Amino acid sequence: MRIGIPHETKKGEARVAGTPKTVTQLIKLGYTVCVEAGAGSSSSFPDKDYISAGAEIADRETVWDSDIVTKINAPSDEEIDMLHEGATLISMLDAPRAPQLLQKLADKGIDALAMDAVPRISRAQSLDVISSMANIGGYRAVIEASNLFGSFFTGQVTAAGKVPPAKVFVSGTGVAGLAAIGTARSLGAIVRATDIRAETAEQVESMGAEFVAVASADQQLSSDGYAKEATEDYAAAAARMYTEQCKEMDIIITTAQIPGRAAPRLLTEEMVASMKPGSVIVDMAASSGGNVAGSVADQVVVTDNGVKIIGYTDLPGRLPTQASQMFATNILNLLKLVTPAKDGQLTLDTEDVVQRGMLVSREHQVTWPPPEISVSAAPAAAAATSPQAPVEKKEKKRLDRRVLYVGAGLLAALFMVLFFISPESLLGHFMVLMLSVVIGFYVIGNVSHSLHTPLMSVTNAISGIIVVGCLNGLQLLNRDLPLTDPINLAISIISIAGIGLASINVFGGFTVTQRMLNMFRKGQK
Ligand code: NAI
Repeated sequence: MRIGIPHETKKGEARVAGTPKTVTQLIKLGYTVCVEAGAGSSSSFPDKDYISAGAEIADRETVWDSDIVTKINAPSDEEIDMLHEGATLISMLDAPRAPQLLQKLADKGIDALAMDAVPRISRAQSLDVISSMANIGGYRAVIEASNLFGSFFTGQVTAAGKVPPAKVFVSGTGVAGLAAIGTARSLGAIVRATDIRAETAEQVESMGAEFVAVASADQQLSSDGYAKEATEDYAAAAARMYTEQCKEMDIIITTAQIPGRAAPRLLTEEMVASMKPGSVIVDMAASSGGNVAGSVADQVVVTDNGVKIIGYTDLPGRLPTQASQMFATNILNLLKLVTPAKDGQLTLDTEDVVQRGMLVSREHQVTWPPPEISVSAAPAAAAATSPQAPVEKKEKKRLDRRVLYVGAGLLAALFMVLFFISPESLLGHFMVLMLSVVIGFYVIGNVSHSLHTPLMSVTNAISGIIVVGCLNGLQLLNRDLPLTDPINLAISIISIAGIGLASINVFGGFTVTQRMLNMFRKGQK
């Protein structure tokens, strides 16, 4: 069978649904590939690269007359007319909002697979263009915001003054939101985020951002990984939270979306008006009604108080090379699925929930919507948190801190007692010990968890200094008195225990390092 990759005709579209890399793979699956002349030029894939990959460069009619046509955007009426009966179309189709398009495809006898209807189940992740485009969109949202923001993202101390880091707030922590958090963090900003689904708190925190929980009893714990509409109680509590955050934040990126509904309104005009001049908002949901009052699809609006609201709806297309590569790889993965014999013959299996979920028209019938399936995007039972999870977590943190303070107090009291009962010659040593404990506590306590790696294991060897200190302690033994003398006994016990514990640290550190390094050596478990 022949696959055709046409030039996209939608205004401003720079992506292409096949790249030289994926063409090579499609040919390995047994297909022949023809690409419309200049189809990849806007995304930096010149015709000669397609030819080197084994494709044929053809005119528009030839490409559209192929057995399978792969595309980014839904076809126009004129393009559907160029398809031959029995051909397969693979592209985004926006099936829920395009019944007429689906009917037209069915009337023409086209088998149509909607790339934007891939069920969100783990097995289908490699075909999921919604996720791959949202990932790029989230990244680009931060880049667009930084472009209009007048300051650094990262904090700096320069000869010309101190610059505080930018404060970024991300609302909605799905694929796009998490990508935005990662990008803003890597640029050095302080990032806070919220989501109506309580279970996303852990992911937000694992990316180095702070999760801002909405103080409402109606916080959701989704059963299917998707959000439901907010209750009145939640919306009111969220509005209070946004009112507070807007006064403080420099950049807000909103990605909140509920499948099949208009985007929820999160920021009111008053909230936007309370932001500092020069602040930037990116409303990623501008195409579906917008999360922000005053945002306009595909435009940048500047409010009276100097806040810029970006409503671009083509964020993935603003990174055309990367977006084309990811989109084309998603299509390639679909074609791998429907070409099990690698014989260049597309064989649809309508019993497969992934293929059935994407199939919107077949044999002159509209086959949308597909039968419902249960998605596995829900959090694993073990990882499930109660709707009150963020509150409980805070409570636990507070308790941990209390335990820490009580422990530190008891330790300080113990030192005081030792300080008063010890002979004068030991006082200097005690002072050094106490200061070492305080400095050690702050130094080690501030090491980020992500650095608890082989490096940390090796630095355990610094405990060697404790071994030296304890050996030194043994020299303090009063030789004129027997070992059973209380002071000699105390010094011996503390020194020997210190040598033992520090040795565990030294040798254990090297053993752990060795085991971790072995994990990266080929042929070793
Ligand atoms: P998603 O469904 O994975 O994430 C949306 C998130 O919003 C979910 O985590 C959901 O729990 C959360 N949410 C829903 N209601 C909320 C509320 N009231 N408050 C706080 N959080 C709420 O969607 P994905 O794939 O991350 O996309 C996000 C949005 O970005 C969608 O609107 C999508 O259409 C849009 N998008 C826009 C692009 C552009 O160029 N502007 C490009 C790619 C995606």
